[in-house]
Amino acid sequence: MKILVLGSGAREHAIVTALQAEDAGHEIVAAPGNAGIARQVETVRLDASNGRLVAGYAADNGVELVVVGPEAPLVAGVADAVRARGIPVFGPGKAAAALEGSKAFAKRIMDDAGVPTGRAITASTRDEVAAALDELGAPHVVKADGLAAGKGVLVTGDREAALAHADHYLQQGPVLVEEYLSGPEVSLFFLADGHDVVPLSPAQDFKRLRDGDEGPNTGGMGAYSPLPWVADRWGSEASFTDEVLDTIALPTVRALEAAGAPFIGLLYCGLVLTPSGVKVIEFNVRFGDPETQVVLPRLRTALSQLLLAAATGGLGRLPYPTFSDEAAVVVVLASEGYPEAAETGRPITGLDAAAAIPGVTIAHAATAELDGGLVATGGRVLGVVGTGADLTAARDAAYAGIRAIRLEGAQYRTDIARAAAEGAAR
Ligand code: AMP
Ligand code: GLY
Repeated sequence: MKILVLGSGAREHAIVTALQAEDAGHEIVAAPGNAGIARQVETVRLDASNGRLVAGYAADNGVELVVVGPEAPLVAGVADAVRARGIPVFGPGKAAAALEGSKAFAKRIMDDAGVPTGRAITASTRDEVAAALDELGAPHVVKADGLAAGKGVLVTGDREAALAHADHYLQQGPVLVEEYLSGPEVSLFFLADGHDVVPLSPAQDFKRLRDGDEGPNTGGMGAYSPLPWVADRWGSEASFTDEVLDTIALPTVRALEAAGAPFIGLLYCGLVLTPSGVKVIEFNVRFGDPETQVVLPRLRTALSQLLLAAATGGLGRLPYPTFSDEAAVVVVLASEGYPEAAETGRPITGLDAAAAIPGVTIAHAATAELDGGLVATGGRVLGVVGTGADLTAARDAAYAGIRAIRLEGAQYRTDIARAAAEGAAR
């Protein structure tokens, strides 16, 4: 199959790697891709957020499936433009992508569908924010309504800091003040074809910069899958994923279908396992990063068949995807200064040695080839993935890979999946 993958991060690198691992002879093109992806498949310079250009390229080049990686092109309507040309596309149209593009829209859909989530108040002025903070109490959660590249959410005990965060985002539109939800977080992905929904295997993301969940929020500093402690609590992983399917994913997809905004693509459910049940903290409308780097290596079913079935309304005819019992851990290597101001342009060495370690694969996030070597071009630079018989073995592999790589000033967490390897929730 000729497949066009849109995007340029480690998530897209993991998608390309999984498609190649099928060994099905796919012709894969990535736009724009990155230096790591370019070592594996053809890349084309194409503005992935321009629907007219993407649809034109796909039509002119006989592309049979377009896979949209990031949220920005989806919110911009790129999937609609491709679908209008009759080409299967994995990714929701603009209307359904509002589930990630507008937190207020997501809350309305959840209300309509009876999906459990924290109470939220939409506020358009400072006075409304202040009243909402007082009504919901501390800790305070303030969220920008629109896309904010991972920076829109502040969780704080400090009322003044909550107000200042709201002030900043009120210049761009309304903000949400949300009830604080406490409990371990789980990222669970569902494939959806507009009507039917199937679960993938859960993962857990580490959003804070430093060990022990200290420091600022980031795009994600590491992840692991599966979650042995979830399987223990629910009796099996399937009872957990079925519960979330029944109470969250399916009602959401059906509510969007009824609203005339069918959800075709990946529904990312960011969940908190609170003492009063599983609740939604956020929806995303695409694969998570870095969770994808640990979910896809465990997938046994051919990814292309799942994505194509979702894109063409055929998920109901496929058996549920299956996963290997092996564990996977990804540790993100980030540049000095990330997330505030990442140092870029520094050389990266040791990648070949890292990749030669058994069980290690590397997903590039922000790298470029320069003068025959590799340099870092952004905050999250590489995702070093380790797989193994269990989380301990997978961690050992990932951290052996990390230690083999040199990047001046690089930061990484040393505690990714440590608690889970010992049977705890985090
Ligand atoms: P988001 O950008 O929506 O993924 O949120 C970033 C992080 O903020 C989440 O992963 C949570 O750790 C935290 N967060 C968001 N909303 C809440 C909430 N209602 N209660 C507690 N923590 C939250
Ligand atoms: N790992 C969080 C995200 O993909 O949004």
